[in-house]
Amino acid sequence: MRRLRRGSVNASEVGGPGGRAADRGAPTITDALRGEHGALYALFDAMRKMLDSGPPAFGGLAGLLGTLLASVLHSHASIEDGILLAGFTGAEPGPLEAMEEEHRGIEARLERLGRERDEARARELLEELLEAARDHFEREEVAVFPFAEAHMEHADLLRLGEEWAGRRGVRTG
Ligand SMILES: [Fe+2]
Ligand SMILES: [Fe+2]
Repeated sequence: MRRLRRGSVNASEVGGPGGRAADRGAPTITDALRGEHGALYALFDAMRKMLDSGPPAFGGLAGLLGTLLASVLHSHASIEDGILLAGFTGAEPGPLEAMEEEHRGIEARLERLGRERDEARARELLEELLEAARDHFEREEVAVFPFAEAHMEHADLLRLGEEWAGRRGVRTG
């Protein structure tokens, strides 16, 4: 079962002048499917890179999975920071900055996993990371994305969506 942990990203900060418009918050099914393609492209790229360069020099299954996880999470977080936070047009990006801070924490844990040579410890670190990533995603869905939707014009959200499509190589029409 997914659990929501309250961290530095706070659901109570959602709201603001325009509030959260339900008709702006829900993606269309085709937008959602394009998003899934974008994430899978990142996974394909990570797998291709690994095929080209070989598996990590050390670490067993956990090291291998950790390298894949690092690739896709890094790619995802760099879009959230580089497009959503960088393109935020509201006054105070508080929850978005908290999101960026959480990304740095996850990156640090991924680096630790990449350096871990003991397989049992690497498995523990990977399991903790998967849980931390799920919790982080849930905070974004509950607090960060609704905050951005409530504090930005819909046209700006659409413009950043186009930027996302370009970065991910997803065709939108
Ligand atoms: Fe994130
Ligand atoms: Fe995310």
